[in-house]
Amino acid sequence: MSEARRAAVRAVGLEKSYQLGEQTIRALGGVSLTVGQGEFVAVMGPSGSGKSTLLHLLGLLDSPDAGSVEIGGRATAGLSDDELTALRRDELGFIFQNFELVPNLSARENVLLPAEVSGRLAEAERELPALAEQLGIADRLDHRPRQLSGGQRQRVALARALINHPVVVLADEPTGNLDSRTGGEVLALLRHGVDALGWTVIMVTHDAAAALVADRIVFLRDGLVAGETATAGEGARQRIEEFLAS
Ligand SMILES: Nc1ncnc2c1ncn2[C@@H]1O[C@H](COP(=O)(O)OP(=O)(O)OP(=O)(O)O)[C@@H](O)[C@H]1O
Ligand SMILES: [Mg+2]
Repeated sequence: MSEARRAAVRAVGLEKSYQLGEQTIRALGGVSLTVGQGEFVAVMGPSGSGKSTLLHLLGLLDSPDAGSVEIGGRATAGLSDDELTALRRDELGFIFQNFELVPNLSARENVLLPAEVSGRLAEAERELPALAEQLGIADRLDHRPRQLSGGQRQRVALARALINHPVVVLADEPTGNLDSRTGGEVLALLRHGVDALGWTVIMVTHDAAAALVADRIVFLRDGLVAGETATAGEGARQRIEEFLAS
């Protein structure tokens, strides 16, 4: 198989700047990243280094100023809005840094929303109890987001990301607001998805312990890839610490 076909996500030369009044902020200065099918990649880097911007571009939520993104070997440049929406809906699952739950929908309605849009609501309704049980939100499904703790909101967002069985899960700080036990459960769930269900996961995290659950860590700095390390074997933790300290 060609490299492009084995890649779940392939980004080449991504550039993105934001205009803030007179000021141009370069969030990404040319980032290339290939993530194989069934690979779990963590992205680390200081605040403002472009991690969320990268995840948004990989998730086709925004388009780059330059560079390209392929999902499952398929180029995304030039796709219509409808085609992009379908690709996002059917192939990608998102867990955003700020959850982005719909405030006046219950947890259940939030989780089921992507399934409803995809026309597989009945199937998702059948699957929801097991998923909610696994994520520890089974007794909170009738609550609105503001009636949930930060950690519970996080898990509702995770359930929503997983309800359509995405090929690629993009997670921005999925453990950022969780206590270590709940955070560990979320990581175990993502790891299980990769190992047993064939998911591909790209996860932004500040937490070295979380990053070590991935197969590979990519470091960003000032909108550029500043290095990477495999997590297997000796020394990965030390390489993370060296990067964070440098
Ligand atoms: N919509 C926007 N308008 C203007 N500037 C933005 C916008 N979004 C991001 N930026 C800027 O782009 C840069 C990269 O932001 P990004 O959110 O990707 O960083 P990050 O690595 O995710 O940071 P954090 O760890 O704090 O979440 C930052 O300097 C940020 O201020
Ligand atoms: Mg961010």
